[in-house]
Amino acid sequence: MTAARNRIEHSRTRITKLVFPQDTNPIGTLYGGTALQWMDEVAFLTATRYARQQVVTVSMDRVDFKVPIPQGAIIELIGEVTRVGRTSMTIQVRILLEDAMVGTQELAIEGHLVMVAVDQAMNPVAL
Ligand SMILES: CC(C)(COP(=O)(O)OP(=O)(O)OC[C@H]1O[C@@H](n2cnc3c(N)ncnc32)[C@H](O)[C@@H]1OP(=O)(O)O)[C@@H](O)C(=O)NCCC(=O)NCCS
Repeated sequence: MTAARNRIEHSRTRITKLVFPQDTNPIGTLYGGTALQWMDEVAFLTATRYARQQVVTVSMDRVDFKVPIPQGAIIELIGEVTRVGRTSMTIQVRILLEDAMVGTQELAIEGHLVMVAVDQAMNPVAL
């Protein structure tokens, strides 16, 4: 495995969550704004692990909500580096909805976030 591939492998981040009532909208499914917050958190962790520098979110690209996620569901968020630029990285974030009784997972939400490595003065720095 190349060093670059190895770095991407080691930065991959998975978080498992239970969807509580306070995470849902009035129809009892995961609130979109909550999902976006969780996606930003996973992207931040993934980018930090890759860069080992301070990172900030500069862009949240198209996010597709494919399947509603009900209250009580087990979900898994997965962040993965899909592009590395000079100072920025694109992180693909997927949210998988798990069937707790069977163990299968389906893709429920997917999006791409661009994170930039910055110094203390908030200037972009090379990765
Ligand atoms: C992130 C920030 C420092 C970048 O500053 P900037 O003046 O745009 O810097 P640059 O033009 O040199 O761009 C830096 C990198 O970001 C990328 N970038 C900038 N704006 C972007 C956008 N809207 N979408 C995607 N990538 C973008 C550039 O392509 C460049 O990537 P590269 O070095 O890999 O080629 C600045 O935009 C900022 O402070 N934004 C606010 C961040 C923030 O508060 N986030 C929320 C809290 S985490």
